[in-house]
Amino acid sequence: MNLIYVHGGVSGREREELPSLEGPRRAGLGAAGALDAVEASVRSLEDNPALNAGLGSVLNRRGKVELDAGLADGAAGRFAGVAGVDVRHPISLARRVLEDTPHVLLIGEAALEVGEGLERLEGSTAEQHERWARAEASGELALDRYGASEHVDTVGAVALDVAAHLAAGSSTGGVFGQMPGRVGDSPIFGAGIYASAEVAVVGTGVGELFLETLACFRAGALVEGGLDPQSACERVIRYLGEVDPLEAGLLALDGAGRVGAAFRGGSWAVEGPDGPLNPARLP
Ligand code: GLY
Repeated sequence: MNLIYVHGGVSGREREELPSLEGPRRAGLGAAGALDAVEASVRSLEDNPALNAGLGSVLNRRGKVELDAGLADGAAGRFAGVAGVDVRHPISLARRVLEDTPHVLLIGEAALEVGEGLERLEGSTAEQHERWARAEASGELALDRYGASEHVDTVGAVALDVAAHLAAGSSTGGVFGQMPGRVGDSPIFGAGIYASAEVAVVGTGVGELFLETLACFRAGALVEGGLDPQSACERVIRYLGEVDPLEAGLLALDGAGRVGAAFRGGSWAVEGPDGPLNPARLP
């Protein structure tokens, strides 16, 4: 059976208001390996309308969905991402890019050429469209208000299979009110996602911070250098806090099955084999 940890994104909401992630974690348990496990778990997270990915994605400044996802196969040293797409399961579109193309990153409508059969999104939930209408009416969509995470951020999963292979997957609707065409950290290897033969890492938070610091690579490299995953996540989250006091979280799993999770911000739901994890909340 696969060892899987899933997360629902750092949030400004109370922990009790966030949905249970047991279903998404279980979705990958019986999968054939770590990569399949991560895809199955992230698909389940994308199906939850209370999370900012797939069905429940936030809207951009024009009231449209533009989703990003990344999938990393640590054992094979391979990665693929998609950006600015409007399918219900961007993680599966990333899987198609990984397996059916010679490319690493595909964007927008053109990426759907490899997505035959994947369900398209017409928009997001009624709640998200109402939120957008309120924000537009009140001027909240001004760029100087960008980055507040009163909803929830990216979802993701890390997995270790019986062959000791690691994989990571990340999926997001981006940041509420983002400019059309903006790409976050989730489909960028080393920024919002990282995996190698020794460690799998996913991040959550405003993507610009992860992109400018390569936060997931930093945490992964610390584990590859011998640090335990918990200390690695805490060290990088502290560093991110010095760069910018935005909400941010890191979840890492190593080849020995040791997990680490740390964040700054309101709350963060992470689920593992022993139930909800209590990620270290740093000041
Ligand atoms: N972490 C999600 C994003 O910034 O797009």
